[in-house]
Amino acid sequence: MTRKFFVGGNWKCNGTPNEVKKIVTVLNEAEVPSEDVVEVVVSPPFVFLHMVKSLLRSDFQVAAQNCWVRKGGAFTGEISAEMLINLGIPWVILGHSERRLILNESNEFVGDKVAYTLSQGLKVIACVGETLEQRESGSTLAVVAAQTQSIADKVFNWDNIVLAYEPVWAIGTGKVATPAQAQEVHFELRKWLHDNVGAAIASSTRIIYGGSVNGANCKELAAQPDVDGFLVGGASLKPEFIDIIKSATVKKNA
Ligand code: PGA
Repeated sequence: MTRKFFVGGNWKCNGTPNEVKKIVTVLNEAEVPSEDVVEVVVSPPFVFLHMVKSLLRSDFQVAAQNCWVRKGGAFTGEISAEMLINLGIPWVILGHSERRLILNESNEFVGDKVAYTLSQGLKVIACVGETLEQRESGSTLAVVAAQTQSIADKVFNWDNIVLAYEPVWAIGTGKVATPAQAQEVHFELRKWLHDNVGAAIASSTRIIYGGSVNGANCKELAAQPDVDGFLVGGASLKPEFIDIIKSATVKKNA
């Protein structure tokens, strides 16, 4: 089963209109492998979604960084899945560790969000990952399995889910997981999917890595058999994001 390489750029809470235009110009002018080889999705803050969607090349897609757990209504400050669909935004990132840890989103809440947004026709980049403390206490697998279980409890069709393994200790720290560390968790997560969700879903679901990915470390990570792409934070705001997109060819030539 071939899984198309996936590169997501998570811009987080960054950017002015001018900076966003500059990033989009760099992306639009870049020569990258074709859509058959790599799927590219960038995720600006909500306020720039419309602008990025209208300026961005058509072979790249746009994702929101979050959305509300159910249908919209009296939920001040929230953005609903229906609104994203109406705006023509195909993807949403859910369960990012910054939301789990800073905004206290529980596994169950994230599972509900994934199920609801999928039901509305959005595609989801669902994030899981352990803290340093959890890794050091040997519970990495138990943590990512519990996070994934909360999604599996509510979702039956995984066609529109990309699973992002993002160890919290590697996010924004410059301390990237080694290729062996990433491969080990990706392998175990796929095995978990195989044993708990199903063999076909395990072999077709893309598991991407996130946490201090940059232009220099991406190729070695991309070469790992169970690493199907990346979710990139800091480096997605810089021209080196193009090099990360190009690392998809490592897979093609493997
Ligand atoms: P980083 O962030 O690449 O800046 O470590 C990754 C993420 O949070 O998705």
